[in-house]
Amino acid sequence: MPVTAIVGAQWGDEGKGRVVDALAQNMAWVIRFQGGDNAGHTVVNEYGEFKLHLIPSGIFYPQTKCLVGTGCVVNPATLIQELEALEAAGVDTRNLFLSERAQMLMPYHRLLDGLQESASGSGAIGTTKRGIGPAYSDKSARRGLRLGDLLHLEWLETRLEQALAFANRELVHFGQDPLEAGELFEQCLAWRDKIGHRLIDPLPPIRQAYQDNSNILLEGQLAAMRDLDWGSYPYVTSSNPTATFAPVGAGLPPQAVDAVMGVVKVYTTAVGAGPVPTDQGDNEIAQWLREKGKEYGATTGRPRRCGWLDAVALRYVSYLNGFTTMAITKLDVLDGLPELKICTAYRLPAGQVIEYVPDTPIYETVEPIYESWPGWPENSTNSARSWTELPQAARRYLERLEALVGVPIKYVSVGPKREEMFAL
Ligand code: GDP
Ligand code: IMO
Ligand code: MG
Repeated sequence: MPVTAIVGAQWGDEGKGRVVDALAQNMAWVIRFQGGDNAGHTVVNEYGEFKLHLIPSGIFYPQTKCLVGTGCVVNPATLIQELEALEAAGVDTRNLFLSERAQMLMPYHRLLDGLQESASGSGAIGTTKRGIGPAYSDKSARRGLRLGDLLHLEWLETRLEQALAFANRELVHFGQDPLEAGELFEQCLAWRDKIGHRLIDPLPPIRQAYQDNSNILLEGQLAAMRDLDWGSYPYVTSSNPTATFAPVGAGLPPQAVDAVMGVVKVYTTAVGAGPVPTDQGDNEIAQWLREKGKEYGATTGRPRRCGWLDAVALRYVSYLNGFTTMAITKLDVLDGLPELKICTAYRLPAGQVIEYVPDTPIYETVEPIYESWPGWPENSTNSARSWTELPQAARRYLERLEALVGVPIKYVSVGPKREEMFAL
């Protein structure tokens, strides 16, 4: 399938980075199509362990070109740090390109994210405080700066003054000192020196790759349960992590996307506020999943909320994305548990049973209804490299997952390392 979107199927952190890293070798392009450095995509390979925030997870293959796409919001400061860390580890980053049309995330966006969150009290979203909401707000309000502006200095100067006038009004409202346009402009010049040569108009090469039937991976950030339109609004991010947005953010027509792979973790995790029906709080199961699965945020270090797999949410996300296949991750984390549960429906407070994801005010009130499956307490899945090497109970559990979602499993991951994933 020449163009495949790889997207999160739950509340983020499913292992998108590891799946993209494992599949990127034969790709002409890997394109991040939305989000910003709120992402933390972990990749473990021969170069070491990396938490990629902005750079596509295909970066480790010099022959694979990587693009930070037009749909992204890019903080040049974190991008430069990330490039330096990769280069220090011996990774050749000459294959990284940036869309000139991607939004530039500015220091005031980060400040405002933190201030808005603090001012929201109990209504806080629990954002990553990376400035994502304010940057996409400026994009929608049409006062955002774009990376390409770094190459047009007069234009940049005017646009920066206009954007900063708005940002400063809000900073002052929060009791902060206004930022200086001159200082930010100097900062932009320093960024231009470091990343200006990577800026491209992505359409000519992407269109060519598409017309040549070259393999292209579209890498999503986060997941549909935090989608701006279809997630549990307002407990969402400010972009659309669904595959539907992938061609917009990458620069492809909609019919270009041949396949959509949903990355599914065999249990649920989430960071931030909002309804997550199968969240186990701090009970024994939550602690097992959090410690064995190392479920601490790759970007903020926050402990992740953990719980059983939610097949109702998965079906919803699968429909919205049009999953054609699934990549299953973290099966090994369930090794040792005698009993597993899968949520197959929700119960409303009045007793009615529903099998769909309702809007947030109702979603906050649902109770999960579970079915039980035997675990494989005596066996380990970590060394399995084929379907038949998995314990029988693990195969049954995955077959049930497959049946509940109605989409075939194509890959199974049994550990974080590149080689710890196999195809079916
Ligand atoms: P992403 O944001 O979707 O790329 O996922 P994260 O990197 O935030 O979180 C996934 C975490 O699980 C990372 O620490 C990965 O190294 C780790 N991981 C990925 N796949 C597996 C797996 O199959 N087994 C185990 N034990 N860890 C995994
Ligand atoms: P990856 O790509 C998990 C969550 C935040 C918060 C909400 C909004 O690694 O899966 P934002 O900073 O985007 O305005 O926060 O979204 N969130 C993530 N949760 N993984 C991520 O990225 C996330 N990016 C944002 O915790 O609930
Ligand atoms: Mg992550």
